[in-house]
Amino acid sequence: MLKTGVSMQQMPLTYMQETSAKVEVSPTEDRTGQDDKRRIGRLIVGNCVDIMRSWPDGMVKLTVTSPPYDNLRNYNGYSFPFEDIANELYRITDAGGVVVWVVGDRINGGRSLTSFRQALYFQEIGFSVHDVMIYQKKNTPFTRSNAYTNAYEMMFVLSKGKPATFNALKEPTRRHGMEMLTHNKLPDGINKKKLGELKKEKTRTNIWSYAVGLGGTTKDRIAFQHPAVFPENLAEDHIESWSNPGDLVLDPMCGSGTTGKMALSNDRKFIGIDISAEYIEIARERLTSCGLLVDVEHA
Ligand SMILES: C[S@@+](CC[C@H](N)C(=O)[O-])C[C@H]1O[C@@H](n2cnc3c(N)ncnc32)[C@H](O)[C@@H]1O
Repeated sequence: MLKTGVSMQQMPLTYMQETSAKVEVSPTEDRTGQDDKRRIGRLIVGNCVDIMRSWPDGMVKLTVTSPPYDNLRNYNGYSFPFEDIANELYRITDAGGVVVWVVGDRINGGRSLTSFRQALYFQEIGFSVHDVMIYQKKNTPFTRSNAYTNAYEMMFVLSKGKPATFNALKEPTRRHGMEMLTHNKLPDGINKKKLGELKKEKTRTNIWSYAVGLGGTTKDRIAFQHPAVFPENLAEDHIESWSNPGDLVLDPMCGSGTTGKMALSNDRKFIGIDISAEYIEIARERLTSCGLLVDVEHA
């Protein structure tokens, strides 16, 4: 049973810490400028499978999450029942909803390929593998003596049917303006040129690069008390792409709360779950210090 008895709508413009101390949050920190619409995030300590099982079908529009990678790190006593998590994610995702699964492989001699096995399982249970995106790390200290330095992880974009939302992120083009462009090229190979406009921006590719470490991943020092934080720009880019303001965003293994910070900052609703009370406390402190409202519950 969850401890909370208060719905997000009922919560006042203050939040209650676990100690029951009331904490006022400055309304001027509201990025939307609409104090009465400030979102209150929910952070839940517990096994995400158990929590998700208590939720109705189709409740969540977007999940942005990153699981433990093989047995790379010793998180605080986690249990990671992958197939149960995947099945629950499918059930609670709304039609047209998306799950972004950010994952790397253990490299020990060769690559574990756990990432691909997980992607195939998601496909087996009904998700469409809408895209396989690359999270490229601009800086990485992990060199290999007999292979090229690994500088990426996978971002599987899994959708339940066709994605209902796609807000394409753009980037500037190198050349723009009016130019003679190839037009109506026929099998005779003759180029017919026609004056046309090269646009100022184009849709980004599916390879996204981020600096990692302090200042790149985040400027929030407290986040690094967690061993495996992903970049907040990565979370924000997916939130903007696959959801709209007001939608519910989930991170069932939220660690230091990166997805929550970016969801709430972008006017989405947010629920974060982590099996470790210590990590939820890091997430709570981090989000609070960013002026965001959170309510902590224990399963
Ligand atoms: C890769 S970390 C997530 C880091 C997060 N993306 C961030 O930016 O801080 C994976 C997290 O999954 C949590 N975890 C592992 N098994 C879990 C489970 N069954 N239920 C909930 N959380 C779990 C771990 O405690 C760990 O914090």
